[in-house]
Amino acid sequence: MEVIVRANPPQASVLGADYVEQLLTKKPKAVLGLATGRTPVRLYQELSRRPHLDFRQITTFNLDEYVGLPPEHPSSYHCFMQQNFFRPLEIQPHQWNIPDGQAADLEQECQEYEERIQASGGIDLQILGIGHDGHIGFNEPTSSLRSRTRVKTLTASTVEANRSEFPSGQEPPLHVLTMGVGTILEARQILLMAFGESKSEIVAKMIEGPLTAMVPASALQLHPKVTVILDEPAASRLTMLEYYRQVYDHKNER
Ligand code: PGA
Repeated sequence: MEVIVRANPPQASVLGADYVEQLLTKKPKAVLGLATGRTPVRLYQELSRRPHLDFRQITTFNLDEYVGLPPEHPSSYHCFMQQNFFRPLEIQPHQWNIPDGQAADLEQECQEYEERIQASGGIDLQILGIGHDGHIGFNEPTSSLRSRTRVKTLTASTVEANRSEFPSGQEPPLHVLTMGVGTILEARQILLMAFGESKSEIVAKMIEGPLTAMVPASALQLHPKVTVILDEPAASRLTMLEYYRQVYDHKNER
């Protein structure tokens, strides 16, 4: 696992965008796995400030969506992606994929989502955030580390964390569709970003703690090509921090 620490989220996001740029330069038809949440927004903005990048041939797959919310609902991840990625980067409807949380048969929708990922050739680069409970996508603690796209029930703490995304008085959904941990691990490359002191404890567990379904993000320890980009506060509880800095500072001497 490559661990890189930047002074602040803007600098971390510029570096994250560099990883996306490297991929697009090599592979204009890249398949990107996309995340929602506060963490990747600056990375998406940074990409939209790079006019030399050509997004016309990419395909995207989002990690998750709420069950029961129509795509036009302002708190849906469809809506989030339109605002923060698809519209600014002029991604066309045939290019993007988000699980349909309103599908009549949710299990069939999940299976077809997996088939669409396979048919696209698989995800080249999966962008991830991490929840305070260690979830990636919406794979909550005790998720199977081999899980596939499926319906998940959110924990009470995740429902609370999601509340700020909803108009006051509206109860956030309890159920979601999410790619599984196993689905995420099949991406060829993974880029996870985490910012802020409040993420420092779970970040340390993900990188340095035991592999456990209680911290689904720890499954990334099994993946051969993961880059974690942190700001200083999120990195503050890593015991091997000096080593990670040394590895990165001397990366180009190998
Ligand atoms: P955040 O969410 O980026 O808003 O912190 C991350 C997550 O819950 O996966």
